[in-house]
Amino acid sequence: MMQLIKIVVFSLLTIGFFTAYSYYGIPQIIPAPPPEKEELDLEGITTADLIVLGERIFKGKGACTLCHNDVGGRAPMLDDIGMKAQENMADSRYKGTASSVEEYLYESLVDPSAYVVAGFGKMGTQDSESPMTDVRTGSIKLSEEELLVVVAYLQDLSGLDVTVEIPVGSTGTEESGQPAATTTQVVTTNTRAKYDSAEEILSQLACGVCHIVGHYQGLIGPDLSHIGGSRSKDYLRRAILDPNAELTEGYMPMMPPTYGDQLYASELEMLVEYMSRLQ
Ligand code: HEC
Ligand code: HEC
Repeated sequence: MMQLIKIVVFSLLTIGFFTAYSYYGIPQIIPAPPPEKEELDLEGITTADLIVLGERIFKGKGACTLCHNDVGGRAPMLDDIGMKAQENMADSRYKGTASSVEEYLYESLVDPSAYVVAGFGKMGTQDSESPMTDVRTGSIKLSEEELLVVVAYLQDLSGLDVTVEIPVGSTGTEESGQPAATTTQVVTTNTRAKYDSAEEILSQLACGVCHIVGHYQGLIGPDLSHIGGSRSKDYLRRAILDPNAELTEGYMPMMPPTYGDQLYASELEMLVEYMSRLQ
């Protein structure tokens, strides 16, 4: 039982590392290597490690900070979500079924429209629809365990006790424990393999979290499904390298300005080429 929890946590850690790495591709956010298995006791795993892991997913694979940051202002900050959750559940606009903060947080991740924070709704829906998508889907694709770990992090972030319990035994396929070994590789290497296609870039850089493009349905930024018809390659290149230089009318400066550092030049061209063909 305890062993299995360790394995689950280790698998998640590995995924967290790798994804954080692939999102930012820079060494400074790579966290310290995980402690030796032997040093972890059950208590340590269920609280402190859960929170650390949750934070990693929040800032990495979960892509939460793409929208929940204090720069763009298009998604609410979550540091007081514990208290807000209580208020929101009591609000007449609340359409969900949660009866505890933990349930509310979980519901926010899989059914964001159950409660839409006033002023943050999808444009033109009078705050009845959230622009946040179900984070189990699209390019984020969090697993059940990852959702719970993120909920634990949000509870801690807002000063609440962590009540989340990881369902033991739900990841039966990962019993080999192999992921721990690959972790060190990811941490020590400083370059990454080139992306093979524009589709891979869209997925790895989570463009679809904010844009309608490919099979993604993001609602924060402009629809890119016909972008090639109205924008030149030069424009597209600039829109990626320096998104805030020329804002698309009607939108907030929310697109990360860091893609220039994350993409090799050939990859940027591949992406521009791909978009210019979307007519
Ligand atoms: C595409 C942008 C976007 C992404 C990515 C995103 N969110 Fe959100 N989120 C929003 C917006 C906008 C709202 C406010 C509207 C609403 O209430 O649904 C919101 C609301 C929430 C709420 C509810 C806030 C409240 O007061 O009820 C929680 C909790 C939350 N997000 C957590 C997360 C987590 C955790 C992630 C990452 C796994 C994430 N979000 C990813 C845009 C995003
Ligand atoms: C956190 C949300 C977010 C992410 C992630 C994001 N964008 Fe954007 N994007 C926006 C917003 C908001 C705008 C409109 C404001 C602006 O021009 O910066 C925009 C504008 C654009 C435009 C200009 C569209 C036009 O018609 O003027 C292009 C092209 C674009 N994004 C491509 C991308 C690509 C490619 C990626 C991934 C590498 C990406 N975006 C990731 C939010 C995002």
